[in-house]
Amino acid sequence: MMRLVLVSLGAVLAAGASELPNPVTFSKDVLPILEQNCQSCHRPGQAAPMPLISYKDTRPWAKAIKAAVTARKMPPWFADSKYGHFTNDRSLKQIEIDILAKWADTGAAEGDPKDAPAPVAWPTGGWNIQPEVVMDLPAHEVPAKGVLEWELIAFPAPFQKDTWVTSMEILPGDASVVHHICFSFEKHKPSIVYNRYEWVQVPRDETGNPTPGNSGFGELPGMIIATRDVGSSEVKLRQGHATLRQNLDFCYLPGNTYEDYRSWNAGKLVPAGSDIVVSLHYTTNGKAVSDRTKIGFTVAKTPPQKKYVVQGAGEDAPVITPTPASSKALFASTYNPQFAIPPNASNYQGPQMEITFLKDAELVGLRPHAHVRGKSAQYRLTYPDGREEIILNVPHYDFNWQLAYRTKVHVPKGARMRFDFSYDNSANNRNNPDPNRWVYQGFQSWEEMMAPNLAFLLDRDADVGGLIAISN
Ligand code: HEC
Repeated sequence: MMRLVLVSLGAVLAAGASELPNPVTFSKDVLPILEQNCQSCHRPGQAAPMPLISYKDTRPWAKAIKAAVTARKMPPWFADSKYGHFTNDRSLKQIEIDILAKWADTGAAEGDPKDAPAPVAWPTGGWNIQPEVVMDLPAHEVPAKGVLEWELIAFPAPFQKDTWVTSMEILPGDASVVHHICFSFEKHKPSIVYNRYEWVQVPRDETGNPTPGNSGFGELPGMIIATRDVGSSEVKLRQGHATLRQNLDFCYLPGNTYEDYRSWNAGKLVPAGSDIVVSLHYTTNGKAVSDRTKIGFTVAKTPPQKKYVVQGAGEDAPVITPTPASSKALFASTYNPQFAIPPNASNYQGPQMEITFLKDAELVGLRPHAHVRGKSAQYRLTYPDGREEIILNVPHYDFNWQLAYRTKVHVPKGARMRFDFSYDNSANNRNNPDPNRWVYQGFQSWEEMMAPNLAFLLDRDADVGGLIAISN
């Protein structure tokens, strides 16, 4: 009896050990993992500081790779694996972590280059999509220091006729000053002036903080609107309302530089004669920079089956201002005066936010967005029969990584979705610039946001209106 137990235990151990290749080499075992999970960022022209392409590139980082993957810092991925299912999940399997760790621990050998997989044919020019249409934004001067408000600017969309866009990417000229860039396609209005930056001049004290409730978030009376023409340094001020509004068809954020709808056979229709309204947010980094950002698109030859829709985007979508429960389209961040994080609060719960689905929907994207005090985010779906399901749990939100979680959840009419965000304004939060301040909603990263962005697929000809109502 005793012997039997020992034998089977031995067999189990041997089976466990045999899963790990022996020896582990770069060419045969490590490179396939890097190609699949790392090179999208770790190649020249992308966000990561060093390429992980050749043996020579990678060898000096063997120990750092082991440390980063065993701590699950790399690849960046923050969704709790207990909940939801994500089609772009790039977190490593345990066996892959073990291979990278063993490689570092056993001398990080190259092995036979003949065992290496073929190199990935990455798109050229720094792109992740290989765009068919490219728009060059005008050069934008960013001073060495100071606060730049979000600036909006309109251009004619770069398409001659009705066009289904099937992927979009923003390629920053200088990623170190581009905090984020968003854009949307809008119907042209005669009042729109092209090539003119426009922004809300937010009253700020000497530390850069706005007066509470006056952060440019929402339409407040007496706002000062600033404008500057491309190529000119003259800033004109007036009181009133902005002529451009910020919508969010697509945003460039760290970790989120492109969107590709081709695998869903989906796209976004841009009617002929549309404008593109771009919202730019630069941060200063101590040296003056002239940024030249590009926007790239692929376009469909024949109309795709589905359309891709994000909340807050499109003609009828309510944006930033409070919306009635019967809101026509999709919801957006609303200015909420109750949102106020006390100094040193380590676990502030954001105001309750819940929506109701008025039609069946196919939910494909979740992008929780908060700023530097963001601590956690959770999306909870309650089906009409009362069943509850957490579809995304981000227990440790990290402002430095604005990830979009791609999923596929069929949401029936009558379902409700609740969003719970928490915030850490204590000194324990290493991203916190000042734990002794009250923090209100606003556009700057030291102000806060609670934006549970959602993306849907709808039939190509479906009406976007009336999909969602805000329940509270
Ligand atoms: C989404 C983009 C992205 C992906 C995917 C990614 N990285 Fe990174 N990586 C970065 C960026 C940006 C940095 C630098 C900032 C940081 O350390 O957070 C970095 C830093 C690192 C570092 C340096 C950490 C340190 O201690 O300084 C290592 C090692 C690393 N990555 C390994 C990997 C490996 C191995 C993979 C794949 C298994 C991977 N990364 C996937 C973007 C990425």
